[in-house]
Amino acid sequence: MKLLVLGATGPTGQHVVQRALDHGDQVTALARRPEALHDLASQITITQGDATSAKDVAQAMVGQDAAISALGRSTSVRADGLFSGAAAAVTEAARQTGLRRLVWLSSFGVGDTLAESSTTQKAMYKTFLRNIYADKAVSEETLRAAGLDLTIVYPTTLTNGPAKGTYTVDDHVPMKGAPTISRADVGHFMHLAVHDPVWIGRQAVLTD
Ligand SMILES: NC(=O)c1ccc[n+]([C@@H]2O[C@H](COP(=O)([O-])OP(=O)(O)OC[C@H]3O[C@@H](n4cnc5c(N)ncnc54)[C@H](OP(=O)(O)O)[C@@H]3O)[C@@H](O)[C@H]2O)c1
Repeated sequence: MKLLVLGATGPTGQHVVQRALDHGDQVTALARRPEALHDLASQITITQGDATSAKDVAQAMVGQDAAISALGRSTSVRADGLFSGAAAAVTEAARQTGLRRLVWLSSFGVGDTLAESSTTQKAMYKTFLRNIYADKAVSEETLRAAGLDLTIVYPTTLTNGPAKGTYTVDDHVPMKGAPTISRADVGHFMHLAVHDPVWIGRQAVLTD
C-alpha cells in the first residue's frame, strides 16, 4: 500500500512508519522537520510541508492509497488550531486527489467518548486538556462531514512502553480509573486498521 503519514516525526508517528515499513508499505511523510525522521528518512519519501496547508497536504497525497494522521501538539495544552486546520486541509486535499481512506488519531474523551469516560478521566479532559479537546472535536466534525472512509482512533493516556499487542479495541470500551496504552500499540493498531476495511466508518477506542 502507498501510505501517507502525517505527524511521522512524532513518537506515535514513528511507530506507524516503522510498522508500515516492516509490512512492505511504501511510506510518504509530510513533515515540517524532515531531519527529525533520523534513520527512517532513507527508507521513505519525504515531502516538506505543513499539515494545515491544503496545498502541502495535496502535494504529498497525490497517488497515495490511504493516509494516517498521528498529528499532535506534543506537551502543549493549546491546540493552536492544529487539528481543525489539518482536518480542513486533509479533507480538501482528499477532494482534490481522490483519496478516500483515512485513519485519524484523536484522544479518548473527545466528542461523544467523553460520556463514556471515568470520573478521573473527565477531571483531566475538562481541565488542562479542554482546549486541545475542543479543537479535536471540531476536526472530527469536519472529517465526518467529508464522507471519507474514516476511522477515528481514541486511545487513553499514552506511554512510551513496548508494544504488547494485547490491548482492548472496540467502538465502546468501559472505563475505570485512568488506564493507559503505549504509543507502540497505538501505532500497531493504526497500521492494522488502515489495511482492514472492517474499521471503515467506525470509532476505535484503544486501551490496555
Ligand atoms: N499524551 C497522551 O497521553 C495522549 C493520549 C491520547 C491521545 N493523544 C494524542 O496522540 C497524538 C500523538 O501524540 P504523540 O505524543 O505521539 O505525538 P506528538 O509529540 O504530539 O507529535 C506531534 C507530531 O505532529 C507533527 N505536527 C504538529 N504540527 C504540525 C504541522 N502544523 N504540520 C506538520 N506536522 C505537524 C509534529 O511534527 P514536528 O516534528 O514538526 O513538531 C509531530 O510529528 C496527539 O494528537 C495527542 O493529542 C495523546
